[in-house]
Amino acid sequence: MSATIISGTEVAKAIREELKTEVADLKEKHAVVPGLVTILVGEDPASQSYVSAKNKTAHALGIHSEQITLPADTSEQDLLATVEKYNKDKNIHGILVQLPLPKHINETNVLYAIDPDKDVDGFHPVNVGKMVLGEECFLPCTPHGILELLSRSGVETSGAEVVVIGRSNIVGKPIANLMLQKRKAGNATITLCHTRTKDMAAHCKRADIIIAAVGVPKMVTADMVKDGVVVIDVGVNRIGKTADGKAILAGDVDFDAVKEKASYITPVPGGVGPMTITMLMKNTVQAAKQIAGVK
Ligand code: GUN
Repeated sequence: MSATIISGTEVAKAIREELKTEVADLKEKHAVVPGLVTILVGEDPASQSYVSAKNKTAHALGIHSEQITLPADTSEQDLLATVEKYNKDKNIHGILVQLPLPKHINETNVLYAIDPDKDVDGFHPVNVGKMVLGEECFLPCTPHGILELLSRSGVETSGAEVVVIGRSNIVGKPIANLMLQKRKAGNATITLCHTRTKDMAAHCKRADIIIAAVGVPKMVTADMVKDGVVVIDVGVNRIGKTADGKAILAGDVDFDAVKEKASYITPVPGGVGPMTITMLMKNTVQAAKQIAGVK
């Protein structure tokens, strides 16, 4: 069996078309233009490319976007002042501080400083708390994108054994939490594996759905999975460069081998990545509507 490839690019395209219409309607009927600011500290090439993709997508959807780049030696105080400036800016409805931040800046202080109503990343503790309680809030973009990929591909999650690999605040913890909730793409039985897990392969072999978010290229191999497994690969690992200097990417899953056993699998690139950006746009539109009081 060779798996059906879940194209994040295609699913993202469909959602972006819906958003484009929503943004145009907001402008026409309510004179509201959703606004997003991205704040990048330093010159990490991967972060630069993510941030520029976010701004490009915003622009394509008619969302106002501002891209702020601060030097790597920016003080925490200056970064907090920048966040505060955009908390007060009436044209900005979503604030995204690209992670990771340089080591001298306390990430928690910065994330806590973002107005929860503009926290389109869903990383502020108010939104994290609401998410865990199953209340309406900004869902973190990558987990939200995974839920959409699963539900739009018709993957049954209710009662499924789901193994999440990786316990980050950005992906592992929230996706594990969301998929155990009584919700669309939820009602699953969750196992959350991490660096101290004793026998990762044993857990993976039992899984109906594997979500790999570890940052280790091709860590999930064919001998670790059962026939018919659904595989969502969140990894974006730079494993080299082409002759013309472009990054060669690999996921956390050995795609070529695992796709022969899986029923569904996401590729890298073109899987989860485009969905993360799209859900950021969705959250920004949601923020603009909430702030402007549009139903
Ligand atoms: N770095 C890697 N993923 C993300 C994300 O979803 N949001 C932010 N702000 N930074 C990230």
